[in-house]
Amino acid sequence: MEKIRKAWISDEGKNQFFIHDVYIFGGTMKKIFLVFLIFISASVVAVEKQPGEYEPKDFSHLIGMQGFSDSLLKMHFTLYHGYVKNTNLLIRLIEESQGYTFGALQRRFGWEFDGMRLHEFYFENLGGKKPFDHSSALNKMLDRDFGSFKKWKEDFIATGLMRGIGWAILYFDPKADRLFNVWINEHDLGHLAGGDLILVMDVWEHAYITEYGLDRAKYIENFFKNIDWDAVSSRFHNAVIRR
Ligand SMILES: [Fe+2]
Repeated sequence: MEKIRKAWISDEGKNQFFIHDVYIFGGTMKKIFLVFLIFISASVVAVEKQPGEYEPKDFSHLIGMQGFSDSLLKMHFTLYHGYVKNTNLLIRLIEESQGYTFGALQRRFGWEFDGMRLHEFYFENLGGKKPFDHSSALNKMLDRDFGSFKKWKEDFIATGLMRGIGWAILYFDPKADRLFNVWINEHDLGHLAGGDLILVMDVWEHAYITEYGLDRAKYIENFFKNIDWDAVSSRFHNAVIRR
C-alpha cells in the first residue's frame, strides 16, 4: 500500500482531478480504488482550467484541402488536441510529483510538448494556394545549400520516406546560416538545438494511412500541393533577421 500525498489523475482525458492524502493499493486493487476515487471526485472536486495552460488552436479552415478528406483532418485535429491536453496534464503532474515518478514524468514532457508544437507548425504550413516563389530569399539559400530547389525537394521527400514514424523538417541553423533537412524520430529525437523550424511535414502513419494506405509518397505529393509558402517564407524571414 502506497500513500500519495498529492496527485493529478485523469479519467481517460475527459476530466482531471486533484487528490491528496490518499492510500493506493497495488495491482487490481489499485485500479478498483482509482476508479472509485475518480467516480467520487467527479461529483465533488472537478478542477477548472488552470491559468497559463496551453489552448488548442483552431485549424478547421483546412477542411476541404485537396487530397485530405474531412475525416482524416478531423481525426488529426483530435489527435493534436490530445497532445495539448497531455502537455497541460504533465505540467501539473510534474509540479506535484517527486522521486522516481518526477523523473519518469519529466522524461516524458518533451514528447508530449513536441507532439503538440510540431502539429501546430504542420497545420500552419498547410492550406496554401500559391506556388513557391523561385525569386525568394529562401530559394536562394536552397540553391546554395542543396544545389537547387529541385534537389532540396528530392532530399526533403527522401527524408520523409525514411522508415519509421516521425517528421521531416527543413531547419535553419542561425549560427552557421545554413539549411538542413532533418529526420525527427517520433516527436522529440533529432531536433537541431537552436535551430529554426521552416517547413514541417508529419509522416506518422495517422497523417495519411486512412487516405493513402501505405503509399506515403502519394501523401507527400499532396502535402506539397498544399504547402502555404507564405507561412514558410515568413518563418524563414523571421529566422534570418533574428540570427
Ligand atoms: Fe500527426
